[in-house]
Amino acid sequence: MARKTDEQILADLGTAPDGRLARDVNLWTLEKLATLQLYLKAFATACQSVGGGIFVDGLAGPGMCRVQDAVFPPEFVHGSSLIALQTRPMLERCLSIEKGPNEAKVLRERSAPFGERAIVKQGDVNSDLVPLIEKYVGGAPCFCLLDPEGSELDWSTIAALASIGRRSRKIELFILFPLEMGTVRLFPLKKNLDPGSREVATRTFGGDEWEVVYRARRDGLGAPEAKARYLNLYQDKLRRLGYKHVREKPIKAPSKPGGSRRTHYHLIFATDHPVGDEIMEDIFERPYILQFPVTGQRGLGI
Ligand SMILES: C[S@@+](CC[C@H](N)C(=O)[O-])C[C@H]1O[C@@H](n2cnc3c(N)ncnc32)[C@H](O)[C@@H]1O
Repeated sequence: MARKTDEQILADLGTAPDGRLARDVNLWTLEKLATLQLYLKAFATACQSVGGGIFVDGLAGPGMCRVQDAVFPPEFVHGSSLIALQTRPMLERCLSIEKGPNEAKVLRERSAPFGERAIVKQGDVNSDLVPLIEKYVGGAPCFCLLDPEGSELDWSTIAALASIGRRSRKIELFILFPLEMGTVRLFPLKKNLDPGSREVATRTFGGDEWEVVYRARRDGLGAPEAKARYLNLYQDKLRRLGYKHVREKPIKAPSKPGGSRRTHYHLIFATDHPVGDEIMEDIFERPYILQFPVTGQRGLGI
């Protein structure tokens, strides 16, 4: 199958504003959404023979984003749940959970044209996601996006998702790990760690193993090495939940068009399906869509 060019990907992500709530996002969000779009198409294609797969969006947002500093179109793009609902071949169902009352209401309105394939619930990812999955997902192949802004996502939720009893394989997880934008900011070097940050770190990592890295960092371990160790810790814990394949991609982009690139966060994928892993490996390896909106230079047509 021919690969989409970056312009085709952007055109598919783009949408017209509808006057309702849209999430303000940065340029680098396009990379996440493009990754999702490409994977879901492959996932839906692979699931056709078993009646379609299910997409779960644990922190769903309102369904539309506005790209700040967009110097090239599109300025408005579909959010994750709408990308899933528009995926062809069709996914069987999309279950979206969103805590914000306005975001949930607007997402429900935007999802209404998709009828019963779209289920939108206002709720909390950490208390409501697993019971909702047990109610609506059953044994179908399932891919779950967990896309927090900061430290909203508890490790206990990930562990519970991994242990849901199913006929088919484990629920595939696609997690945004906000290492640079959130996690390392919990850990001060010059003052003492406050109890609130300690609690958040322990909730995020599902234990206190992070303290070993933090202590090493305070004792002189370099920042890049410490970040790599936090990231490895998180990924190792996913493997210990029984995922055979765990891979990550750092999302690197300038804060402003033309600026120098830095890492903002990491996309982590966990599956026990070798084909799913191969597909995501292929997608993770493409240096694609950000070239165009960030620099105006055409992509390689990859
Ligand atoms: C990064 S945004 C998601 C963006 C979305 N994936 C998209 O593509 O548009 C995170 C969303 O999670 C919601 N949220 C925050 N805490 C939550 C929680 N505990 N449970 C469910 N949703 C939550 C926020 O209101 C926000 O809309």
